Amino acid sequence: MNTELLNKFEALPTPFYYYDMELLNETLDFAKREADKYNFHLHYAVKANFNEPILKCISEKGFGADCVSGREVETAVKSGFKPSEVVFAGVGKSDAEINAALDLNIFCFNCESVQEIEVINELAAAKGKTAQTALRINPNVNANTHKYITTGLSENKFGINMWELDDVLEVLKKSDHIELIGLHFHIGSQITDLTSFKNLTSKINTIQQWFYSRQIIVKVINAGGGLGIDYHSPDGQIPDFAEYFRIFNEFLELRPEQEVHFELGRSLVGQCGSLISKVLYIKNGLKKNFAILDAGMTELIRPMLYSAHHELENISSSSSEIIKYDVVGPICESTDCFAKDLELPQTVRGDLFRIKSAGAYGEVMVSDYNLKTLYPAQYS
Ligand code: LLP
Repeated sequence: MNTELLNKFEALPTPFYYYDMELLNETLDFAKREADKYNFHLHYAVKANFNEPILKCISEKGFGADCVSGREVETAVKSGFKPSEVVFAGVGKSDAEINAALDLNIFCFNCESVQEIEVINELAAAKGKTAQTALRINPNVNANTHKYITTGLSENKFGINMWELDDVLEVLKKSDHIELIGLHFHIGSQITDLTSFKNLTSKINTIQQWFYSRQIIVKVINAGGGLGIDYHSPDGQIPDFAEYFRIFNEFLELRPEQEVHFELGRSLVGQCGSLISKVLYIKNGLKKNFAILDAGMTELIRPMLYSAHHELENISSSSSEIIKYDVVGPICESTDCFAKDLELPQTVRGDLFRIKSAGAYGEVMVSDYNLKTLYPAQYS
């Protein structure tokens, strides 16, 4: 039983997202403080959560924004992020999205292919502008994370491969409306083994050397995001930004005047969010008991899509009897299950559940499938 949360939520219609703004503030302050030690620049990966109060809180702390679509760019700017601190990434930027970003004079386009460079150059030329651009290079570093969220291997669709770089330089020479300002890397998400980042730094050093030997020194090294969070002990947990940034500071070989940028999503917002849901029914099967919640894969798809673990807490029950349940959603799909054989205090219809660590890639991945109702988010 969690009396504090129970009192807060008892009278509200469920399901809804709940954000602990105090934890968000602490997390952001800690990340910023650690990054400031080395003058590192932080961009928030808007895709992790674009809830308005969250975006406002992050922009007010002086973070830049990392966006992957025209609407993300627009939303970020509306929420207070300065266009001069917006980077626009993604393998498939449409002409309309590129044009809108050019009109806003964003900081940088992270380019992922030769053809994209040509298109941005053409569109910038038509506007009489020069687009600041970073090349997203696929460093072929294994992030040791779930195969669906690994991005830095040569078999992934992301970035420009090393063997394409000669061609890229040829195209850049002819692209008068592109200014190459940076190199961008992102190897994947939910990375908890920090040696992957150390490996990334050594790849970046080698790649920088390649450019250096061709008399090219870019101003910006963007090391992407990917720092993972602890889904197994989430309460009040703030990721180890100190160690993460220390690794980049110790192992990246920078040229004078070079800036290091990051695009963090999950590590900044993951732990501050929970999904609150009510038990609709208890069904006792022959071999299993089911606790059927009013939230399912339409409100939080991570367990179903990536077999991701989220801690579940029955915040209503004070029973000392422990029973195993499959905790499932109401959606017409067998995969709509949050946890199997989970030991919980005896659970009854009407109990409230808190599904933790849902601040990143939770609310943003909500779908209208089955047309369920998600109630407005609550904030502490
Ligand atoms: N930069 C780029 C180029 C990215 O593709 C991503 C995430 C980030 C930064 C932010 O990464 P983070 O710091 O959040 O790990 N829906 C999946 C995660 C997909 C991540 C996509 N890219 C999930 O729920 O685990």
